[in-house]
Amino acid sequence: MIICDKISPLRSEIRSMRTARTMGALAARVGLVPTMGFLHEGHASLIQKARAENEIVVVSIFINPLQFGPNEDLNRYPRSPEQDQALCEQLGVDLIFTPNIEEMYGTEKVFTRVHVELLGNYLCGASRPGHFDGVCMVVSKLFHIVEPDATYFGEKDVQQLRIVEQMVKDLSMPIEIVSCATVREEDGLAKSSRNAYLSPTQRKIAPEIFRTLQTIAARIHSGERNLMQLQSDAIHHLNHLPECKVDYLLFVDLQTLTPVDQLDANHSIRLAVAVYVGATRLIDNLLIT
Ligand code: PAJ
Repeated sequence: MIICDKISPLRSEIRSMRTARTMGALAARVGLVPTMGFLHEGHASLIQKARAENEIVVVSIFINPLQFGPNEDLNRYPRSPEQDQALCEQLGVDLIFTPNIEEMYGTEKVFTRVHVELLGNYLCGASRPGHFDGVCMVVSKLFHIVEPDATYFGEKDVQQLRIVEQMVKDLSMPIEIVSCATVREEDGLAKSSRNAYLSPTQRKIAPEIFRTLQTIAARIHSGERNLMQLQSDAIHHLNHLPECKVDYLLFVDLQTLTPVDQLDANHSIRLAVAVYVGATRLIDNLLIT
């Protein structure tokens, strides 16, 4: 496994691996898994899928300052470089790309930015202004640097996945976006690097977020149709748990990410939630139809 912190040598390594692993007319495929490190089984599932589908697997580890707001957790975002490297090695990753901020963004003023229209304003975008512009800026840079054939994103961050899919389409990037199911703890809590911030008491409460989504899904499947009622029951329930405060809990159209108030056979609907447990903001979502 090669670890690279500079763009130019990374490009050369990928180029020579592509040549070495191309078999006649069958071009070697490159799969990219973008991450911010502190890798867990959720990230591992993306890497495994990339490993199964590509001749070359690149994992990027970069805590992207552009996607953090001024009062967010950039400086205390958890890091575990040694464990991350060991996990990548064990999963058969070919290259880890770990640039520093200067390598990614330079030291001078940046004049070009990627901006997300509409899809970036809802859900997490509403409480984290500019967040998805920052995500798209780093992701598009990574796409230009690595030039992957396929890239792997988790459904846990469903808005991010949808926005990246749209960006690739809008900017005609020749990259396949592969979505990967949410990996959960045994008690249902979606695995997340931010779970590390939870106190033992908060950690015990946190699985109630997913349980609440499941309860709503079960009520819909047993015939309830009043989505607004279900939504307000769920918000009420979560807001009454110790240290919990709902940021949003909404049924949304998966294509447009806009709220819906009724089921519609022609549209895929997700129930998306963000909850503060103490100071930690956790997100999750569940497919409804
Ligand atoms: P990060 O939070 O490190 O997540 C990297 C990838 O892992 C994302 O695609 C995310 O959806 C996926 N992931 C995280 N937890 C998961 C889980 N429990 N199950 C399945 N997949 C999971 O998301 C980011 O980093 C950044 O925004 C990034 C895309 C790297 C841009 O900076």
